[in-house]
Amino acid sequence: MTDGSHPELQEGLARFIVPETLFFNPRARLARDFGVIALRAEADLQERWLRVIDLMAGVGTRGIRYALEAPVERIVLNDGNPAAVETIRRNIEINAIPDDVQVDVTCEQVHRLCYALRIRDERFDWVDMDAFGSPSVYWHAASLVPRWDGVLYLTATDMAALCGKLREPAIRHYGAVTRPWECGDEIGARVLIGAMQQSAGERGLYYQPLFVLDEGYAMRLAVRLRYGLADFPSQHIGWLVKCMGCFTHTTLPLHVTVGCCRVCGSEDVQWAGPLWTGSLFDAEFLHLMSMEARKAGHQAVLRLLRLMTDETDSPAGYYAAPDLGKRTHLSRLPPVDALVQRLRQEGYVASRTHFETSAFKTSAPYPLIQQIALQMQ
Ligand SMILES: C[S@@+](CC[C@H](N)C(=O)[O-])C[C@H]1O[C@@H](n2cnc3c(N)ncnc32)[C@H](O)[C@@H]1O
Ligand SMILES: [Zn+2]
Repeated sequence: MTDGSHPELQEGLARFIVPETLFFNPRARLARDFGVIALRAEADLQERWLRVIDLMAGVGTRGIRYALEAPVERIVLNDGNPAAVETIRRNIEINAIPDDVQVDVTCEQVHRLCYALRIRDERFDWVDMDAFGSPSVYWHAASLVPRWDGVLYLTATDMAALCGKLREPAIRHYGAVTRPWECGDEIGARVLIGAMQQSAGERGLYYQPLFVLDEGYAMRLAVRLRYGLADFPSQHIGWLVKCMGCFTHTTLPLHVTVGCCRVCGSEDVQWAGPLWTGSLFDAEFLHLMSMEARKAGHQAVLRLLRLMTDETDSPAGYYAAPDLGKRTHLSRLPPVDALVQRLRQEGYVASRTHFETSAFKTSAPYPLIQQIALQMQ
């Protein structure tokens, strides 16, 4: 007990209290662990200590962990709620943050803070923005804060809109159609990135995705801010198309809006997007993260990083094994690893995916996957 009324909690190296009136989600630990490992990877890449800002710090757990567990030279913890800020200050006091880490605490509305930082030309290597709901209202402001090539690590929890259950908010926040398909979560991640690219592109900027972490109830996304009008990745903005006849997924560039299935010729095709059709992962960054996760002995993060590395070069859209079983009337589902292996032997790109344990990605047409699955019975 630190203040006589609230029990002290611990996560990673951080100790903290959480008054009943304030928000703290223990389930978000994986996202905070990912943040710490990724921040350490970024410091390895930059070969220096980093300047970090936690725009929506809550009770401060995440920011305090950054200060204690990663090479951080300066950290700003901000929250718009004065009660949260009072708790952040108290939680900083109960942790032995080294004297050479400069810690500042502010109580500002995110937009006001981001524009003020921009006016003062203060930039950060790592900008964390853990919003409730859709981050779209904040990402223009947040993108003013990273230095060129700095990283934005953000959260979206509006999964019903992103994953196709609610159409109207997806159109309102992202200008996109999402779908409740078997790969609905991946569509959500891609719609987020697509909409962010459009927002950055207005100013001659773009984002390079480092990783996406789908936790089911929330999507976490780390992107590097890049500068250069000529390099805007418009070739990777497009559609994910699903054939309702043979179930094959394909991607199309944004300017193609009519067509039939390339595999079976059916005209019964549906579009999701506009969305990001490029890679969701940066292989070099995942490698650095894996080294850091190994050093920390973090098996859960390592396992997910392996899956992400595996799917880095796979096509957009995954197929769920149970859906394959139903559509093909299989008496037994093939083990996903064995199916991936067979598809690779046939010369197709194939991998598992971190989005879903019982799913796989492949460039093979769906009827061929069905044929192989039947042979594997
Ligand atoms: C999801 S919680 C943050 C949790 C924290 N990052 C963690 O990992 O424990 C979101 C926080 O953002 C703050 N917040 C929401 N909207 C804000 C805004 N517009 N400006 C500043 N803070 C805001 C809330 O007070 C809340 O504490
Ligand atoms: Zn088809």
